[in-house]
Amino acid sequence: MPTTTTHLPVLPKTNFRETCIGRNARLLNADAFEVLKEIREESVDLIFADPPYNLSNDGFTCQAGRAVSVNKGKWDKSQGVAKDFEFHMAWLEACRRVLKPNGTIWVSGTYHSIYACGFAMQLLGYHILNDICWFKPNASPNLSCRFFTASHETLIWARKSKAGKHLFNYEAMRQGTFRGDFLKKAGKQMRSVWAILTPAKAEKTFGKHPTQKSLALLDRVVRASSDESSIVLDPFMGGGTTGVAAVALGRRFIGIERERTFFELAEKRILAAASPSKGSLFANELSARHMHEEE
Ligand SMILES: C[S@@+](CC[C@H](N)C(=O)[O-])C[C@H]1O[C@@H](n2cnc3c(N)ncnc32)[C@H](O)[C@@H]1O
Repeated sequence: MPTTTTHLPVLPKTNFRETCIGRNARLLNADAFEVLKEIREESVDLIFADPPYNLSNDGFTCQAGRAVSVNKGKWDKSQGVAKDFEFHMAWLEACRRVLKPNGTIWVSGTYHSIYACGFAMQLLGYHILNDICWFKPNASPNLSCRFFTASHETLIWARKSKAGKHLFNYEAMRQGTFRGDFLKKAGKQMRSVWAILTPAKAEKTFGKHPTQKSLALLDRVVRASSDESSIVLDPFMGGGTTGVAAVALGRRFIGIERERTFFELAEKRILAAASPSKGSLFANELSARHMHEEE
């Protein structure tokens, strides 16, 4: 149900290739820097950003028992430590401009990028609230056997500034049941290590993105730090996981992705999540092993 009118006036009409899904989601096939300039200052409640990891260095990893290249694509090549840092400073600054004073941002990455992002965030005046360890119990083994098997990613959660008052759905996190997360004890506070499997097959029904996040991860992020009045933005949308979670939870969403193929994948997934007739596809994505339920 793509439409032309939206409830997202924080981004005036643009000339970018754009799809509106229902009235609450706008997806832009464009460069994040160009789109962020057009978004109204201090208008977004929550940002989830999964920027390039800069880890595509021609190495090898193991997938389904086979050695495969770690390269994700040209967009993920490192330009060297200093240039990569400049890039992180630039997008984090552009995001900070559009974030509301009480808004928060999540940034995810591996050691290749997350320290640079964290340092840039501190320099820019963000106030760090947590660093979350996303532990992947089913991470691929290490082929070289010369160091530890990488089995987590880090997410930094920060508010725009120290002075802000951020939204945290404490009770939903404490009381919720997070199926498959054996580290979460029923009725106990949510801790900063989350055990969530890598994306299930059903999450790849429309195709896959090489660094696709698990829907259960984004479901938890969006539930924890937004409500139904929130506008959620993802400047590096990839296969659209943030949009799927946001739309399914009744939030408004703006997603930006430069690569056409990934944009089209995101379009399909978010459309399915937003469309009642395709509701079962969304249920499939949040498959039983990942499902979140309120008690
Ligand atoms: C790590 S991936 C995001 C994966 C996503 N979280 C998911 O679950 O599918 C980063 C994405 O950012 C996109 N990207 C890189 N630079 C960009 C830019 N300047 N503007 C918009 N998108 C960009 C890449 O094409 C890639 O799809």
